[in-house]
Amino acid sequence: MLGASNHWAWRVERVRTLAAAAGLPGYEVLQYHHTYLRQRTDLPTLRSPDGDLGVASGDLLSYLREEPRLTPVAYSPLLGGAYVRSDKPLGPEFDHVGTPARRAALREVAADAGATVNQVVLAWLMGGDVPMIPLVGASSVAQLEESLAAVDLELTPGRRARLDAAGGSEAGL
Ligand SMILES: NC(=O)c1ccc[n+]([C@@H]2O[C@H](COP(=O)([O-])OP(=O)(O)OC[C@H]3O[C@@H](n4cnc5c(N)ncnc54)[C@H](OP(=O)(O)O)[C@@H]3O)[C@@H](O)[C@H]2O)c1
Repeated sequence: MLGASNHWAWRVERVRTLAAAAGLPGYEVLQYHHTYLRQRTDLPTLRSPDGDLGVASGDLLSYLREEPRLTPVAYSPLLGGAYVRSDKPLGPEFDHVGTPARRAALREVAADAGATVNQVVLAWLMGGDVPMIPLVGASSVAQLEESLAAVDLELTPGRRARLDAAGGSEAGL
């Protein structure tokens, strides 16, 4: 199985088209940075002056929705622990008005569902209309067990709607 990570969606599509025309296998798994908090994608990066091509933007999400045979993997879904730890500050890409609104929604839904904030993030990723496989990191058995338990957390439509409705990044740009 072939996969690719951190490319513009148009480039992935071009490669898949070329592979299909040549009768070769194409990419089936795509790995991008994706999580519940929205992040600015317009800031120049070392990879591209046009913005962060490693973030699952609307362009990529619409592509995945159109191509359900592609398997999306979301790396760094817990933002390295930043959802719950003050020693892991968020970067400038999260510095917009949508971030506090989303963090508040997460806290509310977690309390309501009897789950942790990290578990709600993972359940949100796995159960969305474009289901993601979270590529979670863990430094202890306790962290791993907490993340694994998210598999059993199914967000009700009401809780998911509450999460989805909370501020996006566009409001702050
Ligand atoms: N394709 C790419 O460009 C790319 C880029 C980045 C990562 N990746 C892949 O994605 C994998 C995961 O990335 P990641 O480690 O950034 O994922 P992550 O799940 O966002 O962060 C994992 C880290 O968060 C902390 N953590 C986990 N559970 C926690 C909990 N319950 N409470 C508090 N803190 C918790 C731990 O940090 P501490 O060690 O500080 O406790 C853990 O090492 C990597 O191993 C890599 O293979 C791919």
